[in-house]
Amino acid sequence: MRTLTLISCALLPLALAAQTVQSPDGNLILNFSLSGQGEPTYELSYKGKPVVKPSRLGLELAKDKHASKQMDETSLMQGFVVANTTTSTFDETWQPVWGETKDIRNHYNELAVDLHQPKEQRNMVLRFRVYDDGMGFRYEFPQQKELNYFIIKEERSQFAMAGDHTAWWLPGDYDTQEQETQETKLSGIRSRFNQAVNWSNSSVSVFSPTGVQTSLQMKTDDGLYINLHEAACVDYATMHLDLNDTTMMFESHLTPDATGMKGYMQTPCQSPWRTIIVSDDARDMLASNLILNLNEPCKIEDTSWIHPTKYVGVWWEMIVGKRNWHYTNDFPSVKLDTEYWKTATPHGNHGATTANVKKYIDFAAANGIDQVLVEGWNVGWEDWANMWKRDVFDFVTPYPDFDLDELNRYAQARGVKLMMHHETSSSTQNYERHLDAAFNLMNRYGYDAVKTGYVGDIIPRGDHHYSQSTNNHYQYVIEQAAKHRIMVNAHEATRPTGLCRTWPNMVGNESARGTEYEAFGGSRPDHTLILPFTRLQGGPMDYTPGILETQLNTWSENPNTIHTTLVGQLALYLTMYSPLQMAADLPENYAKYADAFQFIKDVPCDWQDSRYLEAEPARYITVARKDKKSDDWYVGGKCNEDGHKSVLKLDFLDKGRSYEATFYVDAPDASYDKNPKAYKIFKRKVKAGDTLRLTQAPGGGFAVSLKAK
Ligand code: NOJ
Ligand code: CA
Repeated sequence: MRTLTLISCALLPLALAAQTVQSPDGNLILNFSLSGQGEPTYELSYKGKPVVKPSRLGLELAKDKHASKQMDETSLMQGFVVANTTTSTFDETWQPVWGETKDIRNHYNELAVDLHQPKEQRNMVLRFRVYDDGMGFRYEFPQQKELNYFIIKEERSQFAMAGDHTAWWLPGDYDTQEQETQETKLSGIRSRFNQAVNWSNSSVSVFSPTGVQTSLQMKTDDGLYINLHEAACVDYATMHLDLNDTTMMFESHLTPDATGMKGYMQTPCQSPWRTIIVSDDARDMLASNLILNLNEPCKIEDTSWIHPTKYVGVWWEMIVGKRNWHYTNDFPSVKLDTEYWKTATPHGNHGATTANVKKYIDFAAANGIDQVLVEGWNVGWEDWANMWKRDVFDFVTPYPDFDLDELNRYAQARGVKLMMHHETSSSTQNYERHLDAAFNLMNRYGYDAVKTGYVGDIIPRGDHHYSQSTNNHYQYVIEQAAKHRIMVNAHEATRPTGLCRTWPNMVGNESARGTEYEAFGGSRPDHTLILPFTRLQGGPMDYTPGILETQLNTWSENPNTIHTTLVGQLALYLTMYSPLQMAADLPENYAKYADAFQFIKDVPCDWQDSRYLEAEPARYITVARKDKKSDDWYVGGKCNEDGHKSVLKLDFLDKGRSYEATFYVDAPDASYDKNPKAYKIFKRKVKAGDTLRLTQAPGGGFAVSLKAK
């Protein structure tokens, strides 16, 4: 189904420049106008309530000393007239390579406003798309004589909120979003800010006491949910938002490069989409596909090699501190010298040994797990975080106790693949230098997925993790990987903006506080009830759930405990959607809880349908998903430290069919902090229309598999 209608109104007089566009269901209304000074202005309402009050749009440009005709500091902010406006409608249903549903409808009404600055003789287009679940707008810069190329000093997109909303926010930072989310009123951001920043992070790059990251989730006092983020961030810096906490007006704040500049543009070009998702039902926020829809269709012609993947890994034992990534306690000066490694003295506690990896391969093969991630397999970990970071890693030289050839042969003979690990230590140039050889090595041995990592400061440019140049690096890696038929899961890279629609080999990103922090001190029980509203709006997260041994001191010296119940860990496989799901615990811990591990073995990571049954940010999320390859359904519920009682009508099941349901539930006396491993498993027959009543413990959840009979 696809319709496209165009209405063009050429050379409108200024008074007629005001335009209105509605969402297809009429609930959202966007108004565009020019102020008396020719400033582009928009406002947005939902069911008659203001979402964004009148707000200005534009960009400030920097002085360009290289321009043939000297360009002084100037702006694309005022002095505009409307040269033309075009409205159109688009309605198409597309099929993602992997996803929460097998079909996605992309239905919007569009307004394109051609703006002209008569004095400077410059043109800019503002394009608005209004959907039932929100809107997006972007700036487009056609190729033109007086705007051939330019430098962005700052983007000045405003988002004026209509009140002092509750917000779930991360402090603005150009390099990390691995903090815990804060929940305050907008007026409370300033006083909570210092507490929210992880000042001990070496690359902390905070820029304002009221600056926040996107995706930013808010709730108004009268029950509207509003989310601000971006879509299709390509060749552009990642956006933050600066709040004026007197007027409740947000303004865009782009990540600078090392010189303080924000973007280097050559026309024709465009900004990412700025997105506003809106609903009066929190479940709609989670079901929204607005950000994917605003991205370009898939650019990979043959996607047959891209597949959802479940994996285990030589990983958690290093994160917890029981084993090491590095091989020797010496700090060799010539790390890539193979002669050195023949005689190097091992410290004896290396994780990525041939024997240990074989143990994981055997475990994966016995339990139907697709891949085994191995970290610390390649030389260089002795001083990988070294501030000088010369040629630390080459991504092709294994440690002497990791038999690359034998392990790949051993894995493949058992129907399992090894998953590659490339920690770049943020030396992006070094990684690009070695990339082709590294991907060729993967092709040679049959690896089809790589986990990359960007720990530390970006060198040698000194730009930030979210600067335009670094975003271009991540994109370059994705595109090169696609040429080599390799799937990518990037850690510490910029926050996703739906680019996985265009490049579905980008199967995962971390870009938030993952399970690793449970070993570093913990994350609050509500953390995973916020991420689906915020971080996951832009794409899936490699959260690495499945830690069933919630007390780390039972097998290591790490004193920390996991901030969910054991069953809560199972629920995350449903509530934190990802086509890439790790079973992050150790094989011996899964052996201890083999009956609960059965759910991790069974749960798919690709879906034909998903229904959010209950949702409230930071409180609870319950979702039902239908397997892409069968008629089986899976239901997962997760709650915060208050516990939750779910009453669920099974009206999504096929009528007239019976299902064998297996329930994994918290025991009545379970709680994440006092009794995390108390659970019950039972089976029951259910059918469409039945009602389930399930009690979730504090920090707990439930997981149910429903096998169609
Ligand atoms: C941080 C990543 O998030 C983690 O998963 C990885 O093990 C370490 N860096 C080392 O690369
Ligand atoms: Ca990380």
